[in-house]
Amino acid sequence: MEYSMIKEASQYIEEKLKNKPVIGLVLGSGLGVLADEIQNPVVIPYNEIPHFPESTVSGHKGQLVVGELEGKQVLAMQGRFHFYEGYTMQQVTFPIRVMKELGITSLIVTNAAGGINESFNPGDLMIITDQINNMGTSPLIGPNDEQMGARFPDMSSAFDKAYIENALMAANDLGLQVQKGVYVGNTGPAYETPAEIRMLRTWGGDAVGMSTVPEVMVANHANMRVLGISCISNMAAGILDQPLTHDEVIDTTNKVKQDFLQFVKKIVQTLSF
Ligand code: HPA
Repeated sequence: MEYSMIKEASQYIEEKLKNKPVIGLVLGSGLGVLADEIQNPVVIPYNEIPHFPESTVSGHKGQLVVGELEGKQVLAMQGRFHFYEGYTMQQVTFPIRVMKELGITSLIVTNAAGGINESFNPGDLMIITDQINNMGTSPLIGPNDEQMGARFPDMSSAFDKAYIENALMAANDLGLQVQKGVYVGNTGPAYETPAEIRMLRTWGGDAVGMSTVPEVMVANHANMRVLGISCISNMAAGILDQPLTHDEVIDTTNKVKQDFLQFVKKIVQTLSF
């Protein structure tokens, strides 16, 4: 992705804003409602922004919502781009580059994920402590622009340790029981087989989904501090004796909406950057 494209997109967005956003939010499947909480929002549909792809999956709106949340200026993506939609890894992660160009150095990524850890329950919120890239590729493949980040970026604290503590404290303040764990990113779009889930469990995965991993890699490459939250929308394949459906994913995220909203708002309130 060329720098000029990132610049054009960020300039287009900047011209519409009165205030500089400091926190980026990526809202996953069924979690876009958080954007409705943003005060004095400037809404920018993705299809208006130069070089932005358009999002296609149901449950995703496809717009930026920029404004104030808990007294902080935030830029939220209501809907993200998935690799399984056919976008390149560069397209999937383009908005993260644009966020960085806008001056955002703190990123909160959210997603719906299947629970691999058998002590989890659908509806649980999980703070992501680490991730496994099982997508078979990387958004960082190709020539490296040193202005954007290192050729061989460190991923040993891909999720900011202080932000994890911050999120745990926020949960505690709210009396919310949350889980911690490792997120595995698969390409999708098929859900996993039970055998795959058993494999991912031996790898140390606690939750599995079809997003987040590329965005987090690019955010780390760009030296951004990242916090990740998964909404466990279902138990992964083979754990319960029932098929997996996208409707279940959306139903569960709708049920935990209030907890999710309270949690992220509390985090935003207390986040340092
Ligand atoms: N697997 C992969 N992605 C998902 C799942 C799942 O079980 N649930 C929500 N996204």
